[in-house]
Amino acid sequence: MKKFLYVYNYYPQYEESMALLEFERFFHAPYEKYHFTDIDIAYDRSVFIKVKLTLFHEASSVEELIALLAKDHLYYEDFKVVYYKNDLTHYDYRTSLREASAISEVIDGTTSLTNPKLEFAFTYISGTYYFGLLERNKDWDRYEVKPYSYSHSLPLKVARCALNLGVGSQLKASVIDPACGVGTVVLEGLGMGLDIVGSDINRYVSYKGRQNIAHFGFDPMRITKKDIHDITAHYDVCILDVPYGVYAPFTIEEQIDLIHEAYRIADRLVVITHVLLNEAIARIGFTITAQCTYTKGQFTRYISLCEKEA
Ligand SMILES: C[S@@+](CC[C@H](N)C(=O)[O-])C[C@H]1O[C@@H](n2cnc3c(N)ncnc32)[C@H](O)[C@@H]1O
Repeated sequence: MKKFLYVYNYYPQYEESMALLEFERFFHAPYEKYHFTDIDIAYDRSVFIKVKLTLFHEASSVEELIALLAKDHLYYEDFKVVYYKNDLTHYDYRTSLREASAISEVIDGTTSLTNPKLEFAFTYISGTYYFGLLERNKDWDRYEVKPYSYSHSLPLKVARCALNLGVGSQLKASVIDPACGVGTVVLEGLGMGLDIVGSDINRYVSYKGRQNIAHFGFDPMRITKKDIHDITAHYDVCILDVPYGVYAPFTIEEQIDLIHEAYRIADRLVVITHVLLNEAIARIGFTITAQCTYTKGQFTRYISLCEKEA
């Protein structure tokens, strides 16, 4: 039996390219909406993980599931058992309510239907019943509303995906966003528990970044005012959202110069650009190992995972 079932979903219109690449980086497998695996990823790491079920048992009938659970002698306080509706199998609603109640009978402790501390679920897929701990990624946009934002701030889904591509399974990696603006990437990274810092050449913008992360209880000094050229420390991962001249002109040469600096300060780079700069990135010495896009309206962002040549 696999240990986990993830429900991984996205809006095909804008997000498919990002979601599929992130899925591959997490699970090393072709995409499927209902994905069984032994790979343990925190349910709130990705905006595309909607639900994670940590599996306790699988069985060919609800009766068998109940018998297996009875042997576990489980005890929980304020729990609830639900049927998790999936779009692979239609399941009768009344039957699911009756069975959820029968399953909760074999778990000791107290139930809470309105305010459970723990939610368990069973679901029926391709002839098998699965039971496990249910975690719903309801709070994925908790840092969306912050004191300061920019019209050209990175959408938080792009920020989160860039971090996941950059860090992969190395959650202890040191990460920098050296042109962090108001701190979208830094905030998402801190929320994921990463060791991340940010800096920006613009005094006013970096001040806003500090205010934003402090607002959510993080150390404001994780964002400083600094020109990328003055960074002397070295990092495992750099996330660089290249400026493209919304308020002030920023030439392609200047954009390439920032990527050059990223090469100097980090081993791996996820760079977000508005035109494809593949040739320039290769000339700098990076190999682009994966690439995806995020398009909204006329505007496409290219997200490139770049590794240093061995
Ligand atoms: C596209 S914005 C980043 C937006 C950011 N990701 C956010 O969500 O708010 C690019 C930033 O690069 C900064 N920048 C430009 N040149 C820089 C340099 N030499 N060193 C550090 N930051 C620089 C700009 O001040 C700008 O805030």
